[in-house]
Amino acid sequence: MSVAESLLERVADLQREAEEALHQCQSVEEVESVRKRFLGRKGALNEILRRLSSLTEEERRQVSPPANRLKAWLEEQIAEKQQQIAEQVRQQRMRAEKLDVTLPGRIWTPGGLHPLTLTINEICRIFTDLGFEVVEGPEVEDEYHNFIALNLPPYHPARDQHDSFYITDTILLRTETSAVQIRVMETRRPPVRIVSPGRVYRRDPVDRTHSHTFHQVEGLLVDDRVTFADLKGTLEAFVRRFFGAQVPTRFLPHHFPFTEPSAEVHIGCLVCSGEGCGLCKGTGWIEVLGCGMVHPWVLENVGYDPEKWQGFAFGMGVERLAMLRFRIDDIRLFYQNDLRFLQQFD
Ligand code: PHE
Repeated sequence: MSVAESLLERVADLQREAEEALHQCQSVEEVESVRKRFLGRKGALNEILRRLSSLTEEERRQVSPPANRLKAWLEEQIAEKQQQIAEQVRQQRMRAEKLDVTLPGRIWTPGGLHPLTLTINEICRIFTDLGFEVVEGPEVEDEYHNFIALNLPPYHPARDQHDSFYITDTILLRTETSAVQIRVMETRRPPVRIVSPGRVYRRDPVDRTHSHTFHQVEGLLVDDRVTFADLKGTLEAFVRRFFGAQVPTRFLPHHFPFTEPSAEVHIGCLVCSGEGCGLCKGTGWIEVLGCGMVHPWVLENVGYDPEKWQGFAFGMGVERLAMLRFRIDDIRLFYQNDLRFLQQFD
């Protein structure tokens, strides 16, 4: 076989090899190495072209055109393959980053505050505006702070095992936030102006208006020259802000062991405005809180001189106020965590 013939054969082989190599290529880098292998300075095609110089004029005319055609063909094939791979890469990225702008947006639903939290916040806000400070006390209390210091005699029904949740003989879940009064006065000197929100526990069977666990806000003010008029003015201001300026209040004599005199505060019925309806049981009035002047014995229990200091205290049920405010007729709704209920309040 002449040199020219073997070169021609080589050209033909190279074309097949290049075709095969390009076919295998998966990446731009692989195509580049194919280019180097066939078209590079030390590549297969250059080797053939270099060897042309050793051929006769006649032979060169035979070999040169196919060799140059192969070069042009290779260049074209390689460029095409590069483009093809670039397009594939682009398609892959498009698939990976696919974004369907016609999908509906994700709805951002921020949480809201529970109606009881909203109510506690509002009560506390009204009293802090009046100069009271918010403090909290323990839910697990001893008998001394929950009963004895508050002047609850041993035969008082609240002290019965059947009415309170006892943990030991003398430790129990507090039955009222009034226990915080004692803790605050034990650690401070007058003047004292505090409100104290929190949970309380009583062994009540659960029904539409009762729950074994509920919330109260306690209030206490101790200073010199405090009178019942201060108590009335403060609570009337509270009722006006919480229920509305048009809502009337009345104070009825009542009894609490830790206040003397004691009173129950009623507001004019929010539904019938005094006409008499189901909510006020026909009386035109609704009881909303208990209050009174701090009993001198209670002051003595915490080491305050009752000749020098006087105070008033009050306590209200948060659920009751929230139910009146939002016209909710079943206390159990507060504890069921049903979003359809809860979402109505934020
Ligand atoms: N602790 C009383 C109750 O639970 C309310 C109250 C508080 C009354 C403070 C007078 C003074 O009913």
